[in-house]
Amino acid sequence: MTLTTESVYFDMYDRDIYADPYPIYRRLRDEAPLYFNEQMGFYAVSRFEDAERVMVDRETFVSSKGMVYNIMPYVIGGDVAIPNGLFICEDAPVHTMHRSLVSRVFTPKRVNLIEPQIRAFCAGVVDRLIGADRFDWAKDIAAQVPMRVIGMLVGIPEEDQVKIRDHFNELLNEGTLDSTKSPFEALAQSEGLFGAHLDRRTSQPSDDLMTQLLTIEFEDDTGTRRNLRREEILTFLNLIASAGTDTTSRLIGWTGKILAEHPDQRRRLVENPELIPNAIEEILRLEPPPYHFGRYVTKDVEMHGQTVPAGSIIDRDISRILSFGFGAHLCLGANLARIEGRIVLEEVLKRIPEWFIDLDHGELTQGIDTRGWESLPVSV
Ligand code: HEM
Repeated sequence: MTLTTESVYFDMYDRDIYADPYPIYRRLRDEAPLYFNEQMGFYAVSRFEDAERVMVDRETFVSSKGMVYNIMPYVIGGDVAIPNGLFICEDAPVHTMHRSLVSRVFTPKRVNLIEPQIRAFCAGVVDRLIGADRFDWAKDIAAQVPMRVIGMLVGIPEEDQVKIRDHFNELLNEGTLDSTKSPFEALAQSEGLFGAHLDRRTSQPSDDLMTQLLTIEFEDDTGTRRNLRREEILTFLNLIASAGTDTTSRLIGWTGKILAEHPDQRRRLVENPELIPNAIEEILRLEPPPYHFGRYVTKDVEMHGQTVPAGSIIDRDISRILSFGFGAHLCLGANLARIEGRIVLEEVLKRIPEWFIDLDHGELTQGIDTRGWESLPVSV
């Protein structure tokens, strides 16, 4: 064996690294815990404690210049501004205000209430596959459930759910590779996607999130008590629909792949379904759906004996329990995503206890913000 002396290289656009990032992650952690990509102008940390520090120290590492690399250079360069209300890309105090408004309506109780509907839908999805010799785990299962769940929660009728999922997939997943498109293209089209549904809920209130956002009252940053404006609601809907579909589909896709590769573990889950929640945690740790996230550095900071200057971009490959982020921006949908992952697996294992992956015909996702399977053919 020859020892390589080449210095380690990482960038999130490299498709070979994307296909199997783990050897590079290991080298980054061991050889370059503070990695600098000069050409692309970002630093990357990959050790757990460094990633945690970046997420917790909100004074030094901020989100308001974007939280993924494909947005940050545009915002820092002044080409685009972060839309008001896109709180995943905001800092305190405005982040706190916007997040608390959505948390008020997006409660664990609300999420738990739709659990029977999620289960009924998942059972239907899997029932349709019984008897088939082959199906596509990514397309026939993973891509179906999160879109439907968000639709139920938000109040988007069934006939529009596929359109909205495909729209986000094109603009936010595949779109991350297209530098000619504005990173906020999806948001610019919110009116077209959600406007008519919002009008319907204004005249016919229901018990969905859209109705709640229309009726909520709060004190804004000027001290005025008011309802949310239309563009604020559209931004919130956009954030929830985009953050909630792609990521959760990736989780469900990985579930199919990892369990096919570990039939002994899958058998344990068939025999002991109470172990399923823990299996979902382990799958989130092993193959976290987010591929990277970024922060902007507001002041010079010491890391691994070097100074990261103010104005830098810090990027991190997420792993372990940080799969849902940590600190102020901790994923608002973590509970929902876990429920979805658990129910899908419960309903699949009851009906289809064994499957085999045809990886030669599998297809990885396109974008750089999340990582998973676009197509995952299986035989049973
Ligand atoms: C397996 C599925 C999911 C994963 C792995 C995931 C991951 C993450 C991560 C890592 C963050 C933090 C980003 C940062 O710190 O910059 C985040 C934030 C967020 N997620 Fe998720 N997410 C998932 C599902 C969902 C779902 C189902 C929803 C909603 C229905 C959702 C809504 C949000 C929102 C609104 C934020 C922003 C929170 C804030 O900035 O305060 N996510 N998610």
